[in-house]
Amino acid sequence: MKPETLAAQAMHAIDRETGAIVPPIPLATTYARDDRYALRGPMYARDDNPIYPAVERVLAALEGGAGALVFPSGMAAATAAIRAYLKPGDHLIAPRVGYFAVRHWIQRFCAKWGVAVDTVDTTRLDAVRAALRPTTRLVWFESPANPTWDVTDIAAIAEVAHAAGARIAVDSTCATPVHTRPLALGADLVMHSATKYLGGHSDVLAGALITKADDDVWAELKLMRHDEGPCLGPMEAWLLLRGMRTLFVRVEKQSRTALSLAHRLEALAGVIYPGLASHPQHAVAARQMTGGFGGMMSLRTGGGAERALAVVRKLRVWVPATSLGGVESLVEHRASVEGPDTPTPSDLLRLSVGLEHEDDLFDDLAQALS
Ligand SMILES: Cc1ncc(COP(=O)(O)O)c(C=O)c1O
Repeated sequence: MKPETLAAQAMHAIDRETGAIVPPIPLATTYARDDRYALRGPMYARDDNPIYPAVERVLAALEGGAGALVFPSGMAAATAAIRAYLKPGDHLIAPRVGYFAVRHWIQRFCAKWGVAVDTVDTTRLDAVRAALRPTTRLVWFESPANPTWDVTDIAAIAEVAHAAGARIAVDSTCATPVHTRPLALGADLVMHSATKYLGGHSDVLAGALITKADDDVWAELKLMRHDEGPCLGPMEAWLLLRGMRTLFVRVEKQSRTALSLAHRLEALAGVIYPGLASHPQHAVAARQMTGGFGGMMSLRTGGGAERALAVVRKLRVWVPATSLGGVESLVEHRASVEGPDTPTPSDLLRLSVGLEHEDDLFDDLAQALS
């Protein structure tokens, strides 16, 4: 079946006991034994919650993976994955552009645990090739990457990394499985902040990892989640499953609106969007991303932080808030959030396009930029 069907039906997540077409929220943390002291199913809900397999089956199917694991946040998923690959003495290739909390954590983790790290522009294959060492275990990047939406050629990086004995993991939060399937392009692992498009309604914090193969790192990750306990709450898992049912209609519409807005806004400000011919990696995006370029873009207002923040103050439809991927359109001045050492230009506004009417979104930006 097609991914749209699998998502809409949550892979037929029908409750076996009652036939309910929406599964119950399993709140129990522990499970009774019978007269023979045997368990009927789960034992203890730390990482053995009956709703997990329902959510993880959908995630694995959407990404075409051998398995999936849910985590209580995108950061919990990302940090578990990076730790699972690396030990002291190993080498990591990390991206120059990407969600700032992940980039910061990588620096602190590597410094503390004796992991060598090179921060590389992963859109440049020659730069990645030059950075690879015999000790490189992992190439980690995000695509499209916050907040300039750099698009990295996943298949090309996989080829050079694998030839050097390294593996690659992709933060595909902003591409979503609707537009990119990194595992089919050669990635070993996909990570999502499920807080964003997968949940889709700005009401659940969650993370996910999906693996290509049931390999040594995957075994380690399963152990880590069990032993270290970064487990998603049952309510959150249920909300994530609910959100994923509408993933395709939401993301397809958000991408259509974003592309049209990007074209219309070009007359008013600098626009950074992988769907525009002016984007430096547009050709890679057009090849790698299927059915659209996603709902994220950035504007360059000119005039530094002062002008960018003045534009935000005039907006009435766009909500000034962090995060992305929800049904409501959000605007964020990333430099204010990322702090003084940010590489993000001071006049950049990040836009997360929601499900509102395109004209309302355009008119609001047009009046604010005028
Ligand atoms: C691309 C990307 N990766 C990872 C994260 C971290 O996810 P979470 O906030 O769910 O921990 C975010 C959050 O903004 C993100 O945008």
